[in-house]
Amino acid sequence: MSQNVKRVLVSGGAGYIGSHVTVELIEAGYDVVVADNLSNCDMTCFEGVKKITGRNDIPFEMIDCCNAPHVEGLFSKYKIDAVIHFAAFKAVGESVAEPIKYYKNNLISFLNILDAAKNHGGCNVLFSSSATVYGETDKLPVTEESPRQPAMCSYGATKQICEDILADVVRATSAYGDTVNAGTSALGPVKGIALRYFNPIGAHPSALIGELPRGVPNNLVPYITQTAIGKRECLSIFGNDYPTPDGTCLRDYIDVVDLAKAHVAAVARMLDGKMKKNYEIFNVGTGRPVSVLELVTKFEKVNNLKLNYKFAPRREGDITAIWADTSLANKELGWKAERSLEDTLKSAWQWECHIAGK
Ligand code: UD1
Repeated sequence: MSQNVKRVLVSGGAGYIGSHVTVELIEAGYDVVVADNLSNCDMTCFEGVKKITGRNDIPFEMIDCCNAPHVEGLFSKYKIDAVIHFAAFKAVGESVAEPIKYYKNNLISFLNILDAAKNHGGCNVLFSSSATVYGETDKLPVTEESPRQPAMCSYGATKQICEDILADVVRATSAYGDTVNAGTSALGPVKGIALRYFNPIGAHPSALIGELPRGVPNNLVPYITQTAIGKRECLSIFGNDYPTPDGTCLRDYIDVVDLAKAHVAAVARMLDGKMKKNYEIFNVGTGRPVSVLELVTKFEKVNNLKLNYKFAPRREGDITAIWADTSLANKELGWKAERSLEDTLKSAWQWECHIAGK
């Protein structure tokens, strides 16, 4: 490894988005350390990452970020120039039933990362946030300036609180100096970016990594692919009486590889000293609203199959419509979603077939 290669710690790097980001970081020339406790995934995607990149030497640290000494240990062991923090629980329904589990896990793990970052000479921290922070809004598309609405579930609340924690830590640690001096044992400044994802879907074109939900999927696309392969009997489309063109909800579905590339652009912005403020927020979406019915129909068409689906009552907590204004990310990160929805839906199906061994 050359002295100049920057190293990125990816917490939750064995998961769905984390594994795609790890691939893109390595392909962009970064060194990566993956930390994961495998609480919501196995090693399938990490093995896929190694195959795609042809790298068998990616360090994997089996740690729980809620364990402060373990996180400190990571920062002592490696000189870390940037952290991308994914390690968090993400099921909306479960968070309503088990708020303590969500607050404990999602807040403590992030606090430990920030504390260690500050104690080891400072660091650049990219937080994986969500469009859920915007809640229901009439003014569409949403920009980064759109007001955040009160969270509708504990999962959403943890995203809002972690954004606020990051902003506070950035403000407080800026007093520690301007230069990020990663790897030393001195206090140093934390700089931060929060990326607000819209609806990440799809899989890597190799079909070696993708989404692997445990149990019955909550999200639309894994439910579609599992129905198509025969694991689920029938997809329920939740609500066809919304005030939208076809009565089903509108979302902004962002391809997971495009999303991963936005992380690489954000990391480069931080490491190359291009940030305009020490804490920045970017929407990561396509800017294109797509209805549930449109998505289902397109999935059938591009994969040349028929999906068993029915209309069902609205799902509690769903909002009618949300999509992103992505101009800030386009301009400042020099990034834009590129993969077509057709290719994304093909990749989701190829991944489902791959894991089913078909
Ligand atoms: C949810 C979270 C979001 C998170 C995202 C990905 C909220 C309010 N939403 O978004 O923060 O980033 O998951 O994890 O916190 N649908 C069906 N049938 C199904 C499943 C879904 O019709 O079986 C519909 C839903 O009603 C919705 C759309 O598909 O209109 C997308 O749903 P889903 O994939 O669950 O994502 P969101 O709820 O938009």
